[in-house]
Order: sequence, then structure tokens, then C-alpha cells
Amino acid sequence: MNLNGKTALVTGGAVRIGRAVCRTLAAAGADVVIHYNRSATPAEALRHELVAMGRRAFCIQADLGGEDAGRRLVAAAREVAGPLDVLINNAAVFHQDSLLTLTARALRDEFEVNLFAPLLLMRAFAEACGDGAIVNLLDRRIASLDHSCLPYVLAKKALAEATQMAALELAPSIRVNAVAPGAILPPPGEGAGHLKDRAGPVPLQRQCTPEQVAAAVIFLLQNDALTGQIIFVDGGQHLL
Ligand SMILES: NC(=O)c1ccc[n+]([C@@H]2O[C@H](COP(=O)([O-])OP(=O)(O)OC[C@H]3O[C@@H](n4cnc5c(N)ncnc54)[C@H](OP(=O)(O)O)[C@@H]3O)[C@@H](O)[C@H]2O)c1
Repeated sequence: MNLNGKTALVTGGAVRIGRAVCRTLAAAGADVVIHYNRSATPAEALRHELVAMGRRAFCIQADLGGEDAGRRLVAAAREVAGPLDVLINNAAVFHQDSLLTLTARALRDEFEVNLFAPLLLMRAFAEACGDGAIVNLLDRRIASLDHSCLPYVLAKKALAEATQMAALELAPSIRVNAVAPGAILPPPGEGAGHLKDRAGPVPLQRQCTPEQVAAAVIFLLQNDALTGQIIFVDGGQHLL
């Protein structure tokens, strides 16, 4: 897919990794719909930045919880930006909950944002858009049994399977791929030391960046031969 002149919807696109994805899409020539939930000010600042790059850029607020959130967001994005070509399922929540500390509420919250929302957005995108490409943001922990954040890892593992099932079901018109980052940014409010303490050994002994995650997203979008692929951007950590 040549991204020049295409339109992409990025969930959770205002800050952190989502912002790097939006910037990289714009640099590749795409117009961008920046979805946000609470980050209204950063979303608007990013919109100005992308417009200054010569792109059309739009902001849409939505909480991704609930049955109709996916259809509503895709409809709202099409209303402001016209037909969509690309969906990036980036929005997520992350909590440290093991089997012994989790609650039903925490399980629901993790699954709602990290699994149900991307699934329902993929359905809404497929219903509304004839052709296109989807990239889901996973986590290198899909290759592990990291039980310190059990609901999060379970939801991401299920989304990895769903990526490949959707790739089959939506072929040949829509390609569905995923990127599984390693420890890229500490949780909001935590310093860089948080990652050093918790990330564990990385074979390439280097910290991966949001821009490297975004570059993998763009590669998957641009290469029309790829569907059902998962690229780990984690310095090789998933191999351990
Ligand atoms: N950070 C890492 O090191 C890392 C590592 C592995 C995998 N990943 C994955 O990579 C992706 C991006 O990571 P990140 O750390 O940049 O993500 P993040 O900061 O944890 O979340 C991205 C955005 O998701 C949105 N969001 C959360 N709950 C929502 C809800 N109920 N409705 C709508 N939007 C909601 C928030 O938007 P607002 O701010 O607008 O509220 C948030 O800024 C995620 O899928 C994550 O699981 C990240």
C-alpha cells in the first residue's frame, strides 16, 4: 500500500507510541484521524503538527468501552475524514495483576480495551471499508508466560490469535498484521528507571524506541504481500 493520500485511524494516537505512529504515518504521506480518550490537549497539539506537515488531521474523542464504541468511532472518523484505508489498534490499558490479585472488574477492564475494542473496531472497519490494512499493537509478552500481568498478557495473546484469524477471514481485501513491542516506555507517571529494573535481559542490549515500533507498523502497511504477520520490536527478548 502506498500510504500517500491514504487515511488512517489510530486509536490512542495522541501520546507515547500512538503519537510516534501518527507522526510516521504523516511522514509517509497519510492523513490521520487521531483517536483519544482523555488526552485532548496532546491530541490537538499533534493535529496541528500534522497539519503543518501538509496532511489532513482530525481528532476524535471516544471511550472504547461498550458494544457500539467500535462502530461509532469508525462512523465518526469517516464522517470527518472520508473513507478509511488503515486502522491501527494501539489504545490499551496495562495493570500489574496476577491470578491471586486480580478482580472480576480488572479482568473486564483489561479485556474490554485490549481485546474487545480492537475486535469490534476490526469488524466495524471491515463493514465500512472495502479494502485496507489493519495493524494491531500486541506485546512481546505474548511469547511468554508472564503471570505478573495475567489479564493484560491473556488479552494480548488472544488479540495475536485474532490477528491471524482476521487475516484469513478478511483476505483478500483487508490485510491484518501486528507489531509486538518490548519494553519501550515506562507506564505513565514512572521514570526510565522503571524499565531498567523490570524489563529483564535484552539480547541486543539496547532500548527500542517508539519510532522503531512505528517503522514496523509502516513496513507492514506498505508491503502488500503480508498478512497474519507479527513483528517483534523487542531487541530479541521474545527469544529468551
Ligand atoms: N509502552 C510500552 O513499553 C509497550 C510495551 C509493549 C506493548 N505495548 C503496546 O503498544 C501500544 C501502545 O503502548 P503505549 O504504552 O503507548 O500505550 P498506553 O499509553 O498504555 O495507552 C495508549 C492510549 O490508549 C488510550 N486508552 C486507554 N484506555 C482507553 C479507553 N477506555 N478508551 C479509549 N482509549 C483508551 C489512552 O488514550 P488517552 O491518553 O487519550 O486517554 C492511552 O493514551 C499498546 O497497545 C501497548 O499494549 C507498549
